[in-house]
Amino acid sequence: MHHYGPATNKLARAVMDYALARIRMDPPPLDGPRHADELERTAGPTITEDGIGGVEALRVFGDVLAPATISVDHPTYLSFVPAAPTETSILADLLVGASSIFGGTWLEGAGAVHAENEALDFIADLVGLPDSAGGVFVTGGTSGNLSALVAARHTAIAKRGRPPGRFSLIASRESHSSVASAAAVMDIDIVSAAIDDQRRLTGDAVRTALDGMSPEDREGVFAVVATAGTTNMGVVDDLVGLAEVCAENDLWFHVDGAYGGAALLSPRTRGLFDGVEHADSFIVDPHKWLFAPYDSCALLYRDPDLAAAAHTQKAGYLDVLEHERSPSDLAHHLTRRARGLPFWFSLATHGVKAYREAVESSLSLAEATRSIIADHEDLELLEPTGLSVVVFRRIGWDKSAYQEWSDRLLRQGLAFVTPTKVDGETVLRFCFINPRTTEHHVELILSTL
Ligand SMILES: Cc1ncc(COP(=O)(O)O)c(C=O)c1O
Repeated sequence: MHHYGPATNKLARAVMDYALARIRMDPPPLDGPRHADELERTAGPTITEDGIGGVEALRVFGDVLAPATISVDHPTYLSFVPAAPTETSILADLLVGASSIFGGTWLEGAGAVHAENEALDFIADLVGLPDSAGGVFVTGGTSGNLSALVAARHTAIAKRGRPPGRFSLIASRESHSSVASAAAVMDIDIVSAAIDDQRRLTGDAVRTALDGMSPEDREGVFAVVATAGTTNMGVVDDLVGLAEVCAENDLWFHVDGAYGGAALLSPRTRGLFDGVEHADSFIVDPHKWLFAPYDSCALLYRDPDLAAAAHTQKAGYLDVLEHERSPSDLAHHLTRRARGLPFWFSLATHGVKAYREAVESSLSLAEATRSIIADHEDLELLEPTGLSVVVFRRIGWDKSAYQEWSDRLLRQGLAFVTPTKVDGETVLRFCFINPRTTEHHVELILSTL
């Protein structure tokens, strides 16, 4: 198995040819899911005593498995939060895979970690965090939120001891589902504060929530989670007000910019993020709107020592690592892929201006789409939406009409646009992050409504 002979050489060329052909596709086929039965039938048994050989495994991948995965980088994939990794970042991902880097420790991964740290510093500068800030790339926003909140609670215990009752954090109902998931894992409560008429969580709403609590419950509150770009509507919470209320009450201020944080790059949207510089922790996913491949979330702490106190694993065989700060110390993980390298490589290759322009192209497309929809007699915009999210209703349609339309577009390979729910109503939502998505694509999709 560990032998680079002629067969491996042939396979290497075939794999590289496949990868390069996929990278070059503009656009790739949209593809779509298949039933498990169909996959079992068409892929056939692949795990055998003697192996099916690499050429056959590649054939199964190319002919059966890959077409049963939706191409998230297709320009008309506008569901959830799409991805659009640069060609360069995909190539760098191949490098990372080929290099057997243990990204968990400085001892083993110093070179890679150095470059990851430079990329993290770049993001910390955009946020306005002090030079002493630091962090780590984790798998995604879900693990970023969890690790940040574990550090927050650990810090609260160190400062104030355990509360008489339960721990809780304050968030709004617009915050991402991963915040509730983190709370469940941590066995803590979420106090849901009201949103304002712009769908933002505000400092005043958090004050009201705190005022409504018993002194005992109040002692258990340790953090406020702000969202800088809600997934469903693209709204940035009132970060200035939230930072203030956190400072007044000695609460950890976590900002979830998993989707929206990329808009820090644009002078057009930077003002929405005022106050983010007060964050105790911040996340943004390069695998969303910063054009990196899966999986990659940049998790930053104002004071990385607080995170290390919460997360550093201790064991006799790990004692040799004590002298250097390692990425594994800053989140709930030990072994890790150097998953920040593709983002670093691509940012280093293309420069910041290219990233700013790519983010701005989605902001412009969202603006153009809002005005096309506003002028359309069968469509109605839902307000407010922000950043690169556009939400609208097709007048007269119900939930099943939306779903049938969405299924049909995917089946036809035309687009992947799933319905969402806003205040209980099923509606449609576009999330733009792909610079290859154009007004022409939008018009094509709208013409089918
Ligand atoms: C605001 C926000 N936070 C967290 C997440 C979770 O990120 P991930 O899917 O990378 O775990 C998402 C995903 O869409 C998100 O939009």
